Amino acid sequence: MKDAFGLPQSLLVLGGTSEIALATARRLIMRRTRTVWLAGRPSPALEEAAEGLRARGAEVRTVAFDALDPESHETALGKVFAEGDIDMVLLAFGILGDQAQDEREPAGAVRVAQTNYTGAVSAGLVGARALQAQGHGSLVVLSSVAAERVRRANFIYGSSKAGLDAFAQGLGDALHGTGVHVMVVRPGFVRSKMTTGLAETPFATSPEAVATAVELGLRRRSETVWVPGALRLVMAPLRHVPRRVFRRLPM
Ligand SMILES: NC(=O)c1ccc[n+]([C@@H]2O[C@H](COP(=O)([O-])OP(=O)(O)OC[C@H]3O[C@@H](n4cnc5c(N)ncnc54)[C@H](OP(=O)(O)O)[C@@H]3O)[C@@H](O)[C@H]2O)c1
Repeated sequence: MKDAFGLPQSLLVLGGTSEIALATARRLIMRRTRTVWLAGRPSPALEEAAEGLRARGAEVRTVAFDALDPESHETALGKVFAEGDIDMVLLAFGILGDQAQDEREPAGAVRVAQTNYTGAVSAGLVGARALQAQGHGSLVVLSSVAAERVRRANFIYGSSKAGLDAFAQGLGDALHGTGVHVMVVRPGFVRSKMTTGLAETPFATSPEAVATAVELGLRRRSETVWVPGALRLVMAPLRHVPRRVFRRLPM
């Protein structure tokens, strides 16, 4: 059960090697989290991630999960929830793709869409139903600032995140009043393995900063969290800039 401050005792991470998710898990373990499930594609990195969290005092288990195989989601998540209540599901999997290459070879673009959007629709609904059945819990969804106004430079990733973001907002509305809370997190550029080698954009931040914002969002039971918070103010006007101007902006 969550404590009076909304912080979870048990956590399920979908995308168990995500640097943002692992920073969040470390932070929550420093607070109150005792049980962590890392769901991901089986790999040495997944086992190392589990070991790293165990060293911080949590009981950690791994479970096979592939966003690209929606038919397996019911079984994968069912296995976790069958072992006990989960206070928080963190939907953290995602791929950036290679915009230029994916424009040339649409199969790559489809993979981005299927991972970030279709996979999240499936896992999000399965996770939400399990949380609803136990009557409490938070579903925290890692969206992106890229979802707010899709840019020419990464419109394949951006559109997949826009779909995910809209889906998560709608799911949050559907679950309002059920005891299940959905929180959409919109980080800007985060220095993680996803962005290694890419030029930083303004307001670049760290996985640890996202983790701090997630903790605060849980305490406040926020529905939307921007990281850093200033991005909310930056994106509010940018959302309405006419396209002929927006496409010329150096971003
Ligand atoms: N980094 C940023 O600038 C940034 C900004 C805004 C939002 N985000 C979002 O935040 C989330 C976490 O990103 P991150 O920065 O922590 O990146 P990351 O360290 O690269 O983590 C991405 C995660 O997605 C998993 N994944 C990819 N395809 C999968 C699949 N088919 N099935 C299951 N898992 C799969 C990866 O697992 P494997 O180990 O199996 O590859 C990894 O655990 C993503 O949704 C990302 O879009 C990132």
